[in-house]
Amino acid sequence: TMLKQNHRGAYHFSPKEKWMNDPNGMVYFKGEYHLFYQHHPFGTTWGPMHWGHAVSKDLVSWEELPIALAPDEHGMIFSGSAVVDWNNTTGFFEDEPGLVAIFTHHADVEGAEHPVQCQSLAYSTDEGRTWTKYEGNPVLRHDSFIDFRDPKVFWHEPSSQWSMIVACGQSVSLYRSPDLKNWTFCSEFGEGIGFHGGVWECPDLFALPVDGAQDNSKWVMLVSIGDHPDFTEGSRTQYFTGEFDGTRFTPDECSVAKIRWLDLGRDNYAGVSWSDIPAADGRCLFIGWMSNWKYANLTPTGGWRGAMTIARELELRSRNGEVMLVQQPARELKAYRQPVLSLGPKTVEQASSELSGLRLEIFEMHVRMESAQSIAFKVRAGAGQETVIGYNGDTEAVYVDRTRSGVTDFHPEFPCIHSAVLEDGEEGLELRIFVDRSSVEVFAGGGRVVLTDLIYPDSASTGISVFADDAQMIINSLDIY
Ligand code: FRU
Repeated sequence: TMLKQNHRGAYHFSPKEKWMNDPNGMVYFKGEYHLFYQHHPFGTTWGPMHWGHAVSKDLVSWEELPIALAPDEHGMIFSGSAVVDWNNTTGFFEDEPGLVAIFTHHADVEGAEHPVQCQSLAYSTDEGRTWTKYEGNPVLRHDSFIDFRDPKVFWHEPSSQWSMIVACGQSVSLYRSPDLKNWTFCSEFGEGIGFHGGVWECPDLFALPVDGAQDNSKWVMLVSIGDHPDFTEGSRTQYFTGEFDGTRFTPDECSVAKIRWLDLGRDNYAGVSWSDIPAADGRCLFIGWMSNWKYANLTPTGGWRGAMTIARELELRSRNGEVMLVQQPARELKAYRQPVLSLGPKTVEQASSELSGLRLEIFEMHVRMESAQSIAFKVRAGAGQETVIGYNGDTEAVYVDRTRSGVTDFHPEFPCIHSAVLEDGEEGLELRIFVDRSSVEVFAGGGRVVLTDLIYPDSASTGISVFADDAQMIINSLDIY
C-alpha cells in the first residue's frame, strides 16, 4: 500500500519488491550503466540469492529488468563482478564483444561442516538481457577456505591479463588469468594489516590518479568487513592505498599505520566500482548498499527492503603528506536539481527565518561557511522527530544524530550519533547533504568525510531548521534543491 511504501527513496535505487543487499557486476556497456544486486525474489529478508538487475543511462533513474542469474546445481549466486570481454579472451563471443559475470557459487552441502564457495562465470551476448552459465563452472575453487567469495575482476593493462581480487576469510587473494577460465594464484594480502574484527568481503582494486595527475597514479583497495557482535558499528568498508604490479599489492605507509574507513556513517556497505567506464569519461564510479548487516533484515519498509547509496565519484587527493580517498556525489545528480532556496551571506538568525516556512521531504542542501564553527541543521523534523546534521567546532567533527529520526526501535543499536573528524577548520566548512525518504548522505570538506545513514521519519516530518550558539554567525551560502 501507499503507506507501507512511504520510505522508498525517490532518487535511490531499491528493488520494486522483496529483498536486496550488495551491488554486483556493475559495468558500463553501450550507453548503459548496469547494476546487478544480491536479491531474494520471494522474501523481504535475506534468502536464496539471485542477481537482480537494473539499468540506467545516468546513474540516477533506474529501470528494473528481469532477474539475471538464479541459483543452480552449484548453489546460490553470491556477489561478484562483470566485465566487457573486448578481445573475446573467453571465446564466448563470435561476432561482437559481450559481458561476462564472475560470481561466487555458494552451496550448503548436506552433512558437510561448512558451505562450499567457488567462483563461476556467466555470459551475455544481448547487452545483459539474458545470461548463459558457463558449462565449465566453477572456474576457481579453494579447498581450505570456508569464506572464499566476491570476485572483482579487471583487465590489468601492463601485464595484458585479467586480475581477480577475492575475499578469503580475513584476507584477500589475487589471481591472474588470460581468459577468465584458468586462474593462477599470485599473492595474499591482509595479514597483520587493517581491521580484522569481522570477515573480509567484497574487495575491489583499482588505480586512480593522485590529485588528478594522469602520470601519478596509485592503487586503492576496498575491503568490506562483516558485522561482528563486539562492534557497534556493524558492517563497514575500509580502504588501503598502495602499489600493484599485477601480482602483489604493496600498501603505503599510511595504510599500514592506521585503519581508514570509506564512510563514517553506518549504512554504506559492500560497495565497489564500475567496470569499463570509457577512457573519455575517466571517472571511478562507486555505489554501495545503503544498509548494515547489524539490522538489515529488520528495517521498517513494507514489501521491499534494501536500497543503494547515490552513485559517487571516487578520487585520490594528497593532504598533509597522506594520499586519501575522496568521494563526491555523481555529477549526473545536478541535472535533477530544482532550485528551492538560494541564500547569499546571512546570519544564522536570518537563515533560520528563511527556512522556517519550508517543508521538504526529498532534497539536496549545499552549505558553505568561511570559518568552521559549530552549527546544526535539523531535517525531516516533525512531531517528536528530527535528524540532526551538524559540525562541532570543539571536536572538529561532522555528525549525524538519528536518535530521534523516526522509527528507530527495530534494533537497539540503530538510534545513535555518528561522527567523523574533519580537521583543518581554517579552510572553512562545506557540506553537501542529500536527504531522501529514508536516508541522509553528508559530504563534508569536498568529500574527504562522508556519512551515510538510514532514517525512517514519518512522511509528514518535513521541517527544516538551523541552529548555532552564536545566532549572528555568518553562513556564506545556503542552497537547497
Ligand atoms: C556481503 C555478503 C557477501 C556475499 C553476499 C551474500 O554483504 O556477505 O560476502 O557474497 O553478501 O548475499
